Amino acid sequence: MTHSFSQFPANRPRRLRRTDWMRNLVRENILTPADFIWPIFVMEGNDASEPVPSMPGVSRMTIDRAVIAANEAANLGIPVVALFPYTPTELKSSSCDEAFNPDNLVNKATRAIKAAVPDIGIMLDVALDPYNSDGHDGIVKDGIILNDETLMVLERQALTHADAGADILGPSDMMDGRIGVIRRALEQNEFPDVAIMSYSAKFASAYYGPFRDAVGATGALIGGKHTYQMDAGNSDEAMRMISRDLNEGADMVMVKPGLSYLDICQRATTEFNVPTFAYQVSGEYAMIEAASANGWIDRDKVILESLLAFKRAGCAGILSYYAFEVAEKMISAD
Ligand code: PBG
Repeated sequence: MTHSFSQFPANRPRRLRRTDWMRNLVRENILTPADFIWPIFVMEGNDASEPVPSMPGVSRMTIDRAVIAANEAANLGIPVVALFPYTPTELKSSSCDEAFNPDNLVNKATRAIKAAVPDIGIMLDVALDPYNSDGHDGIVKDGIILNDETLMVLERQALTHADAGADILGPSDMMDGRIGVIRRALEQNEFPDVAIMSYSAKFASAYYGPFRDAVGATGALIGGKHTYQMDAGNSDEAMRMISRDLNEGADMVMVKPGLSYLDICQRATTEFNVPTFAYQVSGEYAMIEAASANGWIDRDKVILESLLAFKRAGCAGILSYYAFEVAEKMISAD
């Protein structure tokens, strides 16, 4: 873009920043409740919830409470909830069988929410870490995360999720070939309308710590995820991953974590022009909460500013633990 502007004083950009109404008039990007996917942690039991210590304000909840929460989210205009399980330790194994149990926590929760709240979309992660006694996203043998063996389990997991009624599958495992395998399985099993939002540019990040606490995967994990998640120094590789996943049948892509990877969000949206989402991850949430609790930042303003950044970078939407709170405030401000 080449523009020629008049010179000062004919051009005074401050004219457009003078009042609230003028700033509102010329703002390039805004947030609405429809920009959000709200991640929820589900656990066994009835009418109960328990706080996640490293994510103040976020609680795991039983399925009946998740149904209520999803209903409230739908009423606020949030289009999608993403469900993550707090799997009881005794159901975790190195073969990750619980991942494809048709009655596992997220499949049960999906059925319950679909029955009670038909107008909200449900997204489920496809990855093995919440079910793995080894804590990794894939099957581990002799300390190695096996790619092709993992694909076979992911395929079974994806089909149980589609069968439970999931609208969007989010493969978050970063195994090679997973999108193709899942897309083929969906087509062959008469789930042609299930969308795939691939965690395409998912970086091996220290920002996921609180999430691993929330799903109870912290203790089990031995070693890092650097042999499958991306290296933080890479940007061209992220573009190759997005291109590959789109070729294999992804409908939408994701960049994760969010704020530290805004350059990747912007490149992705300009180079591919497909719906691109950012995940404002647990560590980003925890940092805002910790600084706020110390009185060091203005919590509400920082939350909105951090979320608006994703829209400015071109994202179609944001997975955020703040989705509910922010949507609620937007609605009550109307
Ligand atoms: C699992 C998964 C992770 C997150 C979403 N899905 C953790 C990981 O890869 O270790 C992280 C979300 C967050 O930190 O909020 N594959």
